[in-house]
Amino acid sequence: MVSKNLETAINNQINAEFWSAYLYLSMSVHFANKGLSGLANWFKVQFEEEQEHAIKFMNYLIERGNKVELKPVEKVPTSWDSALAAFQDTLEHEKVVTGLIHNLVKIAREENDYATENVLQWFVNEQVEEEGTAQGIVEKLKLIGSNTFGIYTIDKELGQRS
Ligand code: FEO
Repeated sequence: MVSKNLETAINNQINAEFWSAYLYLSMSVHFANKGLSGLANWFKVQFEEEQEHAIKFMNYLIERGNKVELKPVEKVPTSWDSALAAFQDTLEHEKVVTGLIHNLVKIAREENDYATENVLQWFVNEQVEEEGTAQGIVEKLKLIGSNTFGIYTIDKELGQRS
């Protein structure tokens, strides 16, 4: 079993992952309504990934014989001024999530819980990837600015994520 302290912290993380999933689903719906199906696809895949993160944590608690507590998911924003604004929000949100994961590692270390620390390492690496991907798209969108053809092209590119 993991400690009660870690159990609470991981349950909070499960909720944060579901909130992330809901945030990206909201972005997907927003861009689908705007006719940007590639962006909608990218955020839908991101929504699915976040659910997988939540389930990974859930399965870990179950495997260790701990209690999973599924808490209510808070409201998420529902509109963004531009694709750039949505990806800037994505990047900022992922930085917050990185901080949450690092805090979990800190707790696991303080408790000498090597198994949990090992599981968390996957998430540490995943966050490097998540931030890097969002950062890359923000940079591209900054270059594109309000160029319609550029938006059309990046929408096509993001539509290929599966
Ligand atoms: Fe579950 Fe995007 O971090």
